[in-house]
Amino acid sequence: MKTKFSTAIFIAAASFIMIQSCKKDSKNEIGNGSENNETKISAQGGGSSHNMGQNCMSCHKQGGSGEGWFSAAGTVYDSLLTSAYPNAVVKLYTGPDGTGTLKKTIQADAKGNFFTTEAIDFGTGLYPSVSGGSITKYMSSAITAGQCNGCHGVSTDKIWIK
Ligand code: HEC
Ligand code: HEC
Repeated sequence: MKTKFSTAIFIAAASFIMIQSCKKDSKNEIGNGSENNETKISAQGGGSSHNMGQNCMSCHKQGGSGEGWFSAAGTVYDSLLTSAYPNAVVKLYTGPDGTGTLKKTIQADAKGNFFTTEAIDFGTGLYPSVSGGSITKYMSSAITAGQCNGCHGVSTDKIWIK
């Protein structure tokens, strides 16, 4: 009898905790995305992004203010480096110049931004390419993290296509 009673208490307590944590999740969903990730993947024509040229992951990271923790993100510009170049395609390969295995394809949106919250295995390093129109440009060195605008526009040129 005593065992049954404590089992009932245990179940009641466990359900209460579960309900509370669900409530907490849905609150975060509406409020800020800092405590739980959300799926955000750019697509050609999309326009919900912002802050072109900034390092997206200064906010879109675990504990940051941005909605969704990006594994790779950045901005593509035109050749004058002033206007965004829309709807480019970013690819990440295991080898240079489009060789090896294609690990990830990300379509940039209408604002020139590309981003994804999907897991990316950078392994010992991945080589980015960016395509727009008939042009494809390859980064000749490999990266182990996807904060493209952490370098481009800071320590090297912005990413650009024609
Ligand atoms: C200074 C912090 C900060 C930076 C830098 C930042 N973001 Fe955000 N982002 C936010 C916040 C806060 C939100 C949620 C509120 C909002 O939509 O403004 C958000 C929301 C978003 C959304 C969701 C919009 C929606 O309605 O689904 C996308 C997409 C996005 N950001 C993309 C980007 C991209 C791409 C970059 C880099 C080029 C970037 N952000 C840089 C703070 C930032
Ligand atoms: C650690 C700093 C750093 C990061 C992170 C980085 N890049 Fe680069 N990128 C460079 C440097 C430096 C160059 C020029 C030398 C080279 O090609 O390796 C370059 C070159 C490039 C080029 C060739 C540019 C041209 O005009 O031919 C492309 C395209 C490119 N990067 C895309 C990307 C993309 C997309 C990302 C994110 C997925 C990224 N880069 C992340 C530093 C970085």
